[in-house]
Amino acid sequence: MNFLVWTSSPASGLTGAVRVPGDKSISHRAVMFASLADGTSRISGFLEGEDTRATARAFAQMGVRIDTTSASERVVHGVGIDGLTAPAAAIDCGNAGTGMRLLAGLLAGQAFDTILIGDESLSKRPMRRVIDPLARMGAKIDSGEGGLPPLRIHGGATLRGIDYTLPVASAQVKSALLLAGLYAQGETRVHEPHPTRDYTERMLRAFGWPIEFSAGHARLSGGHRLRATDVVVPADFSSAAFFLVAASILPGSELTLRDVGMNPRRTGLLQALRLMGADIRETNAREAGGEAIADLVVRHAPLHGIAVPVELVPDMIDEFPALFVAAAAAKGTTRVSGAAELRVKESDRIAVMAKGLRALGARIEETPDGAIIEGGALHAGEADSTGDHRCAMSFCVAGLVADGPVRVLDCANVATSFPGFLDLARACGFALA
Ligand code: S3P
Repeated sequence: MNFLVWTSSPASGLTGAVRVPGDKSISHRAVMFASLADGTSRISGFLEGEDTRATARAFAQMGVRIDTTSASERVVHGVGIDGLTAPAAAIDCGNAGTGMRLLAGLLAGQAFDTILIGDESLSKRPMRRVIDPLARMGAKIDSGEGGLPPLRIHGGATLRGIDYTLPVASAQVKSALLLAGLYAQGETRVHEPHPTRDYTERMLRAFGWPIEFSAGHARLSGGHRLRATDVVVPADFSSAAFFLVAASILPGSELTLRDVGMNPRRTGLLQALRLMGADIRETNAREAGGEAIADLVVRHAPLHGIAVPVELVPDMIDEFPALFVAAAAAKGTTRVSGAAELRVKESDRIAVMAKGLRALGARIEETPDGAIIEGGALHAGEADSTGDHRCAMSFCVAGLVADGPVRVLDCANVATSFPGFLDLARACGFALA
């Protein structure tokens, strides 16, 4: 537990143009595939967050030379698909569910044993969702009690491809199985109840691994090689999300967010905010490194409550803390359902957001898989993020429109996904200290 406290005070409009840091999901994967490739890959726009740095450290522990050539740039000297070596100590994934779950798949196919550990939050997150299907492929993974970390992954297992339908929509589980599939005999097929972010599939193809995929389905076979490829990482939509909500709810705002990743499996919040009446324009739409990007111009607009369409949920799964704040500041009622996964993120995000916003005077009723939020005035007060980076930044956004300062507790983990948030937020008009 740490006690970094930020105070977010009412402000009078967000203006200017900012670029939020690189995409977390893409940065994790870029380090993984570049490490396993033949040759040298350059990653530009790499997220200098604690989560993605932990992944880079993991590969350094397994013998990969990774040079930091400048801030947000890595040059990775790939060791080839079978070139990793046994780490001398346990691999610490920090706060990162993506790091741990993807590594579990990838390490299941190695010749050596590994142990994956995480911080207090990660140590409470469910791992059976990867352990069970990986075991069906032949992997040998022991966990702590109840399927929780740490994970001990036994090397030398013979993996076989499986045909697996995910019980919950999860890009992490899908990716873990595809990564194990690189080392498996035969074909690995994965099907999802709802399509999720497809960065693993797209990046594998970019690195030259034969893979077939379409929305909700992916298949590949083991026994190929990865070819070094440069990766350009777009700005993270999930980090931009706080500013989209902030500028929407704060009168006097007109803010531009540059180079934002616009993969449709990530931009559900944009659609939800537009349904609520937000004024967000996409300009300069283009492609960078095979991903759609755009600049987003957001202006203040009065928001009203909606029933969030359930089919949007997987496409905005990381954005609910921010959406809850938009709903609390909107006119009328917002209903969220079909989002039980929020309870097993870095925190139970339904409970943490409901408690924090209630402390600021909002009226929120929790449901098992969502919440009912009555919009209205927010007051000065204290909101506890419980160490969840996205809840912390969301409460900072709430402070902009409260009637006095909002103290946000336990903010240090903002550095896991958004280093420099404080300075960037201040630069466009947050009163944040
Ligand atoms: C991620 C997938 C999502 C998301 C997480 C990043 C990824 O998790 O919430 O922040 O990079 O694959 P789930 O797979 O648990 O939905």
